[in-house]
Amino acid sequence: MAKFSNHIIILVAFFLATTIAMKPEIPTLETIYQCQTYFGQECGMQVYDRLFGTNVSDLPTNCCYKLVQMGYPCHTRLTVATAKSPKHEKEGLKEILVKSDEIFEKCDEATYPGNILYLAKCIQKIGTDCGDEVSKHIVSDGNVSKQCCKKLVKMGQDCHDNLAKALIRIPELRAVDATQIVEKSKKIFQYCQKS
Ligand SMILES: *[C@@H]1O[C@H](CO)[C@@H](O)[C@H](O)[C@H]1NC(C)=O
Ligand SMILES: *[C@@H]1O[C@H](CO)[C@@H](O)[C@H](O)[C@H]1NC(C)=O
Repeated sequence: MAKFSNHIIILVAFFLATTIAMKPEIPTLETIYQCQTYFGQECGMQVYDRLFGTNVSDLPTNCCYKLVQMGYPCHTRLTVATAKSPKHEKEGLKEILVKSDEIFEKCDEATYPGNILYLAKCIQKIGTDCGDEVSKHIVSDGNVSKQCCKKLVKMGQDCHDNLAKALIRIPELRAVDATQIVEKSKKIFQYCQKS
């Protein structure tokens, strides 16, 4: 498997590309069913309440992570599909799409991992090998060595939290639950602090 830290560097490059180009290429579209599977029913209901119901509060943070992980194309496709269903076809699609965009933008901000230079500095501090070990532990399994634990703590919690947020945005990791990534990343930092 390719190194996760390389993925983050690619991701960082992608941020830059999208900032310059403004309109990123939309990757091959997944089926709506796949989109729903990534997102899950619970958060699906939360978004639904905000698009078609009366809830105007911000989306819960855990759902924001899942939303950003699912990605903008999937989110928009789910919105359009629901808005075009017989139950909602009388409601204005344009207004719903505006709301849908707002929800995504807010979540994007709330889960933003920080700018590319900052992330690159973090990766430099922990080193690609240890960065990779920690990433693997978070998204699947595997142990973090004592040596890498030390480097992780030295790199600092702020870097660590933001690198975990960056992991959530890697498209290849969409099948790994975002909530799991957040929780495991918190736990490994605490574990390394104590050891
Ligand atoms: C809106 O959603 C939040 C989060 O799930 C919930 O706590 C709140 O009670 C909801 N508000 C309304 C008016 O339904
Ligand atoms: C992790 O460590 C435990 C015991 O310390 C060991 O049993 C296990 O095989 C290790 N796992 C990996 C993936 O290295």
